[in-house]
Amino acid sequence: MITIDQVHHNYGKKKILQGVSLQINAGEIFGLLGPNGAGKSTLLSILTTTVKPSKGTVTMKGLDIHKQTKQVRQMIGYVPQDIALWDELTVKENLKFWSKFLKTKVSVARMLEACEEVKLQDKWNEKLSKLSGGMKRKLNIAVALMHDPDILLMDEPTVGIDLQSKLEINEYMKSLAAAGKTIVYTTHDMSEIKTICKRIGVLKKGGIEFTGTLEEAKSYLNKQGNEPIVNEEELIFAMLREER
Ligand SMILES: Nc1ncnc2c1ncn2[C@@H]1O[C@H](COP(=O)(O)OP(=O)(O)OP(=O)(O)O)[C@@H](O)[C@H]1O
Ligand SMILES: [Mg+2]
Repeated sequence: MITIDQVHHNYGKKKILQGVSLQINAGEIFGLLGPNGAGKSTLLSILTTTVKPSKGTVTMKGLDIHKQTKQVRQMIGYVPQDIALWDELTVKENLKFWSKFLKTKVSVARMLEACEEVKLQDKWNEKLSKLSGGMKRKLNIAVALMHDPDILLMDEPTVGIDLQSKLEINEYMKSLAAAGKTIVYTTHDMSEIKTICKRIGVLKKGGIEFTGTLEEAKSYLNKQGNEPIVNEEELIFAMLREER
């Protein structure tokens, strides 16, 4: 469904991605993990088509994302790591603002529904400046969901969201995946990784060190002669450590 083939990316002389290859399947929540600065957000920006890689190709549903950009943009919903909203607009106005960049028309009723999905409907007519950090995060997610995209690219979407809402959003993500949506999800939150990610990919030192289920990660580490892993927290911690 998403095929990333030998993607390289540099910022000036700084080499960030150095041959990233990945296959992400339809209907899965793929956890893209890696330490700070590994290049997760850079890779997601490439998948949104806004950043062109220095080398390599990406296809989504068979379309080359840097050639068939218009079609691809319609299929994707993106939650950026940095909140991209206007403080002086209300929740409803922010949704309307972003809907103008979409090719398909989104009804106001559907915008409200997207707000309900993230439990923000009570703030519909509230100015963004009056909302808490977690509420802004929820709206950041609603913006990505409003046109019901097939592919969701979510960059640390639930940072700062209260536990109850986070669990509800996680359940909602699982239901979207069960309905066939493909979700690429970055997070530093262990419980989220455990609850929602079917497979993970570990991005380190410019490349993908590992892809697979958490079970497969366990045997991968054990084969490397590490101390036996007892629980999933330890497993994820060990996978993300710079040196082993
Ligand atoms: N626009 C830019 N210009 C120059 N360097 C950049 C730019 N964006 C990111 N970088 C650098 O590229 C590297 C990868 O950044 P990126 O934001 O992709 O990492 P990340 O894995 O998302 O990290 P985090 O977990 O902290 O979000 C970092 O060293 C960062 O400083
Ligand atoms: Mg990032």
